[in-house]
Amino acid sequence: MANTHHDEHHDDHEPVVYPDGALYGVLAEYDTPGELMDAARKVRDAGYTEFDCYSPFPVHGMDEAMGIKRTILPLIVFGGGVTGLLGGIFLQWWMNAYDWPWNIAGKPTWSIPANVPIAFEATILFSVFAAFFGMWILNKLPQVWHPFFRSDRFARVTDDAFILGIEAKDRRFDHAATTKLLTDAGAIAIEDVHYEGDPARKTMPKWIIAFIVGSTAFALIPFAIAAKARNSHSNQPHIHLFPDMDFQPKFKSDTAIDLFADGRANRGEITGTVARGSLNADDTFYRGIENGAWTTGFPKQLEINDALVKRGQNRYNIYCSSCHGFDGRGSGSVPQRVQAAGGAWQARNLVETGGVSVSMPNGQLFNTITNGFNTMMGYAQQIPHADRWAIVLYVRALQRSQNANLDDVPPNQRGSIR
Ligand code: HEC
Repeated sequence: MANTHHDEHHDDHEPVVYPDGALYGVLAEYDTPGELMDAARKVRDAGYTEFDCYSPFPVHGMDEAMGIKRTILPLIVFGGGVTGLLGGIFLQWWMNAYDWPWNIAGKPTWSIPANVPIAFEATILFSVFAAFFGMWILNKLPQVWHPFFRSDRFARVTDDAFILGIEAKDRRFDHAATTKLLTDAGAIAIEDVHYEGDPARKTMPKWIIAFIVGSTAFALIPFAIAAKARNSHSNQPHIHLFPDMDFQPKFKSDTAIDLFADGRANRGEITGTVARGSLNADDTFYRGIENGAWTTGFPKQLEINDALVKRGQNRYNIYCSSCHGFDGRGSGSVPQRVQAAGGAWQARNLVETGGVSVSMPNGQLFNTITNGFNTMMGYAQQIPHADRWAIVLYVRALQRSQNANLDDVPPNQRGSIR
């Protein structure tokens, strides 16, 4: 049907024969995208699977004409996502709940909400990897060379040619029959393409190879310099990438400058400066120590009154009650949570009759708040010195209230006690 008005093409595209290479496949050129699509349909109907269509632009409906199935990439991505999700959850379960369980304020070691962010990230990561590498593998990439590239006719598919290529490895392939099928489908030219053995075979230009080798070697030079520098000594100053940051115009202490009459960069101490280490000279107030031992008294600069006890109660309830409890008996909300989770952890009972906290000197109690004790951390960062003393005062009041006897009650109120 087509050949009559396409004769001129036949003249400049005689089939090339490469005698020593095995046949790779057959190319057929069609005049229009529509004819290419018709041919694709016929080739598909004849049962071929190892063929492809090449055109300068996407031809809509071509996938269907060729019988190309939907890509399985979405399934691969889904599989990657599921792997990431389960892997992320397993990883956290393994580390947090199984291999190295760690009690943090009595929180459960295994809880799904806490695992959501990592599981989510792992899902995304694995899906993306599956999409990226899956696409490459399904497309058989990277592939820099294809036997069809050796056909000059094939080079025109990026310009104005519509080409269908059938590979010889197709189980239906039969040179005579396949060629006839393509011709009957309206091909304006048919061309065999062979593997190597072609004298005019295209190879990668030498300059590209030289460029790759050269640039690779060049890229290694910085590493070689770094490796050498790490293994050798030099008395030269190092390289200053930002000299204005390394060398700043400023005066260092004990250097000479002519700006001031005395010629010194040091300007002396400002009046009222306290020497290092002299700021907290008051051992009792700052450390709870008096004459080298824990003080049993109270710092003289603090007046013991109702307001200070109230302040102490306020600070105690904020900083200590979570563990030691509002009553000081050691069952605050944190130990309660630990016990609810099956742990045996308990804060110290501060008010127990005969207990260590009752008998310890004020200074030691103060020091416990400052520096902590065993598993209890120190509160020096959160609680200023005076407030720590207020807490000491309040703990004493708590102990008194829990161990009270009749003598502690004012005589005029003793009658109201039952
Ligand atoms: C996070 C929980 C927690 C908090 C908050 C806490 N403690 Fe403790 N405290 C403990 C635990 C646990 C112990 C017992 C440590 C041990 O024996 O290993 C303890 C022990 C003590 C002791 C006894 C120290 C000794 O030498 O036996 C004192 C006194 C004390 N705490 C006072 C306080 C005061 C006052 C506060 C508030 C400033 C406070 N604790 C805040 C957990 C806490």
